[in-house]
Amino acid sequence: MIRPVHSKDFDELLQIEAQAFPKSQYDREELWLLSLKYPHTFLVTVSNQMDGYIVFRPDGHIISMAVRPHKRRVGIGTRLVEKVIGHCSGNSLRLEVRVSNVGAQRFYLNLGFRIKARIDGYYHDGEDAFLMERSADDTEDTN
Ligand SMILES: CC(C)(COP(=O)(O)OP(=O)(O)OC[C@H]1O[C@@H](n2cnc3c(N)ncnc32)[C@H](O)[C@@H]1OP(=O)(O)O)[C@@H](O)C(=O)NCCC(=O)NCCS
Repeated sequence: MIRPVHSKDFDELLQIEAQAFPKSQYDREELWLLSLKYPHTFLVTVSNQMDGYIVFRPDGHIISMAVRPHKRRVGIGTRLVEKVIGHCSGNSLRLEVRVSNVGAQRFYLNLGFRIKARIDGYYHDGEDAFLMERSADDTEDTN
């Protein structure tokens, strides 16, 4: 089930963050602020536990997403991005991803995103980001 985040979700979100982003995880306060700012577009996917999350701006900018390591490669991430596509129909989608995060880049390429630019020193540790974008035309084709 995919549903909006609740305040009781933060313990599990912090676990997923620590596993997914050892270099730049969100802390509890940052997750709480994101949930206040984006109550309708901070989504979690749950089975017997939380399997993953996505948070995006209503204009189509994906802020962050992650899936629990042992739940990857079974389509959970794709279903989360499909929610963004449905919500932002008519808008292009954008995100930043570490240049070293080749797995995530392949995931987004598979969903129709393309690398548009390289952003020098985007992350706090100095790593560059790729800006990836999926055009609104692709969004309309999917629906
Ligand atoms: C990126 C991430 C969200 C993908 O979630 P997921 O649930 O595993 O993705 P899916 O199962 O929907 O993958 C769909 C397809 O994307 C591609 N893909 C996904 N992960 C991939 C990887 N690590 N390497 C290569 N291709 C990958 C594959 O084509 C996959 O289809 P397949 O499994 O049939 O080959 C997940 O790997 C993750 O949480 N990574 C750590 C956090 C992160 O990097 N977040 C993104 C930051 S911008």
